[in-house]
Amino acid sequence: NAVPVICIDGPSASGKGTLAAHVAKQLGFHVLDSGALYRVAGVAARQRGLDIAPEHAPALADVARSLQLVFDGERVLLDGRDVAAAMRSDAGSRDASLISAIPAVRDALLQWQRERAALPGLVADGRDMGTVVFPDAPLKVFLTASAEHRAERRYKQLISQGFDVKLASLREELEARDLRDTTRAVAPLKPAVDAKVLDNSDLSVAEATEQVLQWWRQAY
Ligand code: C5P
Repeated sequence: NAVPVICIDGPSASGKGTLAAHVAKQLGFHVLDSGALYRVAGVAARQRGLDIAPEHAPALADVARSLQLVFDGERVLLDGRDVAAAMRSDAGSRDASLISAIPAVRDALLQWQRERAALPGLVADGRDMGTVVFPDAPLKVFLTASAEHRAERRYKQLISQGFDVKLASLREELEARDLRDTTRAVAPLKPAVDAKVLDNSDLSVAEATEQVLQWWRQAY
């Protein structure tokens, strides 16, 4: 696989998506927001009236395998309908975390993610980009920030998008999601052994981007 891939993994609201977008822009690379995939899978399951529980794994995996998905700027079209708001809501976050813990669902989405690797390169963000999806990637970054910083960022983001949310409950939900993501049996959130850990609690986006680009120049 000659396509260069930069993996950015880390907990919820650590700034992976923003960092991935900036790094990709600098390098002219494609972007894979793998969290969006699990979010859309959750929305699709709900639309089909499915309960997101392990006993429905086969049906949920079918849903994941047959997603008809188009990323169009801010819009995310599922079967032609924009589901961006639903997937970014609190319920959407919870459903994504629940459906992503089901191994058959993860398997169903693996190939599609790998196929996003195209020249001149890809920046992939998520939880298991470096550990499972692109284990041979020349640069793996594990991006963290304190729970306080992350909750505050997500809060500002959601408020600016017009969502009515509370900081305290947001932080609780975030920590519950982190716990579920780090303790699940399949593809748990953890740094790859060869990942570079970056804590951006006190870094600007420009500073974090510069650090990743510097690592990239060294690695590739
Ligand atoms: O990154 P984002 O917050 O949008 O991801 C939503 C949820 O999808 C995460 O809480 C996690 O449970 C799941 N996820 C995952 N593996 C990925 C990306 C996201 O399990 N690579």
